[in-house]
Amino acid sequence: MPRRNKIALIGAGNIGGELAALAARSELGDVVLFDIAEKEGVAKGKALDLEQNGAVLGYDAGITGSSSWAEVAGSDVVIITAGVPRKPGMSRDDLLSVNLKIIRNVAENLKKHAPDAFVIVVSNPLDVMVYELKRVTGFAGNKVVGMAGVLDSGRFQLFLAREAGVAVKDVRAMVLGGHGDTMVPVVSYCTINGIPVRQIVPADKLAAIVERTRNGGGEIVKLMGTSAFYAPASAAISMATSYLKDQKRLLPAAAHLQGEYGYNDLYLGVPVVIGAGGVERVVTIELSAEEKAMLDKSAAAVRELIEASKNL
Ligand SMILES: NC(=O)c1ccc[n+]([C@@H]2O[C@H](COP(=O)([O-])OP(=O)(O)OC[C@H]3O[C@@H](n4cnc5c(N)ncnc54)[C@H](O)[C@@H]3O)[C@@H](O)[C@H]2O)c1
Repeated sequence: MPRRNKIALIGAGNIGGELAALAARSELGDVVLFDIAEKEGVAKGKALDLEQNGAVLGYDAGITGSSSWAEVAGSDVVIITAGVPRKPGMSRDDLLSVNLKIIRNVAENLKKHAPDAFVIVVSNPLDVMVYELKRVTGFAGNKVVGMAGVLDSGRFQLFLAREAGVAVKDVRAMVLGGHGDTMVPVVSYCTINGIPVRQIVPADKLAAIVERTRNGGGEIVKLMGTSAFYAPASAAISMATSYLKDQKRLLPAAAHLQGEYGYNDLYLGVPVVIGAGGVERVVTIELSAEEKAMLDKSAAAVRELIEASKNL
């Protein structure tokens, strides 16, 4: 007997609310919007508002707000945005000590209540948070993934499309590496409907776009005093959808590496295939010497933060 998917959203803040709206609107499944006891009213209020939104728009999804982990039990997908976002002037790494405690608490509870879920981590600093979630839960690497690459690539694609004067959907690009200042927009594989981008966008403009992409999150934090949430939510939902519908999309995501690209026991943004088996495989691509050097630098920065987290 077919049943509806169950999607638990841990954190009912800005991204959590938008995740719930997107999941409900596309009838991806029933949604549990979870937050801490002090924010249970917010979680319940957003859930009720979104159910009523369905009555207006004509979608049907059960949406529940809760601060009880029992409600999360049996989830097919869990998306974690629990934690604090950046304020102007902060780097993602500045969030480490606060969000580490939160992710450890979430991990202990998921281990108990949702051991079979496909887990997508969004909280920052992303690569360390997803590493810690896997370490504490002991879940298999293919069932724990981090969202950053889809968002960073989206930003890269948008800036390129605007510069080239073409439709954004015709620009294909990938951003790999850690979700921080060292991220690697991979220019050598970037195309506009198959045409290498270097044939269309001049080198100096390309360099400026790479730089703007690296600072894409910070640009928004500076404008509105907190992190982006529409595009981050859409990015995580595209990953959840690929899992639930076995779409086998090839997307950049923070994946558990065990020797791929020369890195062992590390989470880093690489191309992966997401289907019913979770992260079904890491796709290894050839990189130019310059790009591999950038990826090495990014991996070293993530490793350093993971080491720092061990003392916290
Ligand atoms: N990976 C990415 O690309 C990306 C992009 C944007 C933002 N982020 C990160 O996502 C996170 C969430 O951002 P936001 O804008 O939604 O923040 P927000 O402050 O609006 O929401 C976070 C929510 O988490 C809740 N929370 C705190 N501790 C919790 C716990 N133990 N269990 C459950 N919930 C808990 C808070 O009460 C709050 O409602 C931040 O860390 C931000 O830096 C990541």
